[in-house]
Amino acid sequence: MYRTHYSNQITEELNGQRVKIAGWVWEVKDLGGIKFLWIRDREGIVQITAPKKKVEPDIFKLIPKLNAEDVVAVEGVVNFTPKAKLGFEVLPERLEVLSRAKSPLPLDPTGKVKAELDTRLDNRFMDLRNPEVMAIFKIRSSVFKALRDFFHSNDFIEIHTPKIIATATEGGTELFPMKYFERDAFLAQSPQLYKQIMMASGLDRVYEIAPIFRAEEHNTTRHLNEAWSVDSEMAFIENEEEVMGFLERLVAHTIDYVRENNLRELETLNFELEEPKLPFPRLSYDRALEILGDLGKEIPWGEDIDTEGEKLLGRYMLENEDAPLYFLYRYPSEAKPFYIMRYDEKPEISRAFDLEYRGVEISSGGQREHRHDVLVEQIKGKGLNPESFEFYLKTFQYGMPPHGGFGLGAERLIKQMLNLPNIREVVLFPRDRKRLTP
Ligand code: 4AD
Ligand code: MG
Repeated sequence: MYRTHYSNQITEELNGQRVKIAGWVWEVKDLGGIKFLWIRDREGIVQITAPKKKVEPDIFKLIPKLNAEDVVAVEGVVNFTPKAKLGFEVLPERLEVLSRAKSPLPLDPTGKVKAELDTRLDNRFMDLRNPEVMAIFKIRSSVFKALRDFFHSNDFIEIHTPKIIATATEGGTELFPMKYFERDAFLAQSPQLYKQIMMASGLDRVYEIAPIFRAEEHNTTRHLNEAWSVDSEMAFIENEEEVMGFLERLVAHTIDYVRENNLRELETLNFELEEPKLPFPRLSYDRALEILGDLGKEIPWGEDIDTEGEKLLGRYMLENEDAPLYFLYRYPSEAKPFYIMRYDEKPEISRAFDLEYRGVEISSGGQREHRHDVLVEQIKGKGLNPESFEFYLKTFQYGMPPHGGFGLGAERLIKQMLNLPNIREVVLFPRDRKRLTP
């Protein structure tokens, strides 16, 4: 065993005791009669102090020969002393080099020398050695844990649906086509139809956390071609408000979880994550258009609110309502997909909503149309052929409860939570128009 403790596990009770530390060489300092070595592991940094009189001559000679980012293992005695920058040091009894690092490095993992995002992504393994970058992925891990915990404590069942599919759900332009033996198929852009089919099965409350694939051609800071979607669907709802109520509690729980469990990471990122206040404000589409009009941006009724409009609203809601998170709802039916239910008394308005975080959409959802004949009409109304939805429509004829749900983009949530400039920051190996490796 090369490691008994991570750097952050060395506490005062270990003073005078022997530990094993393993990691990457962060820095070496040679002051003649005393040599210093800082080792970085996943959780932080440990100082190794080697005074000539107190350590083996081999160790004393080896330390100045180490290169930045060599992999080393040290066994030594913990010494808590105010003289050490971190409050403690380790006096080495053994030092072993496990792997050498070439020089120069493809990028500077200390972050002192800034690198372009492309260079960082090309060398992601090295980029992650920067504690700020690693903090993002520790937070990402927490986010997924918090989401799963919340679903389970609210009686949701995890499902897994196919990612090779035959039909589009979110409009036909963003599909990745593929060959499926003799037939044409697509990579799934959403589990939409399958999670709805599950509402006819009696599973009642389901969620799926899985990749979605979208052939977005444009290069933006909030689109990926492969993203992780947090999808959920629940049966026996009376209206879309029940779905919004669940979604806001899920998101608030996730933010709270990160605030409580990632203090060190938030500190590393020098970011203050504000406590979410429930309920999130609900802004109707009509009201949003009014606000935008007052801000000098006219959007014709019926059209979707574009990126610029979203940004303006985001700023408005923050300044006037102190609300980084809010819902946009009561969207025009023409701007939303066929499966969304419309108000019976006002069919031009739909039961769809978006959840916005700092002016960026992080989730879309709504109540679904569960009445077979109405659904068929809506499919036709969108210029689609009901025959290609046979496997889906069938399930609406043998007992389909009223239901609704949402798709929440995990990367959008994390990007907006941490107020990062680019969605690629929260993906290990992003897939975009240009990136297929690493
Ligand atoms: O808004 P979208 O397209 O909605 C659906 O897929 C519906 N089936 C959801 C539902 O249950 N009604 O996608 C849902 C979310 C978006 O709000 C966004 O956060 C994320 O998925 N998303 C993307 N994230 C990154 N890159 C992309 N290209 C994304 N496309 C969607
Ligand atoms: Mg959407």
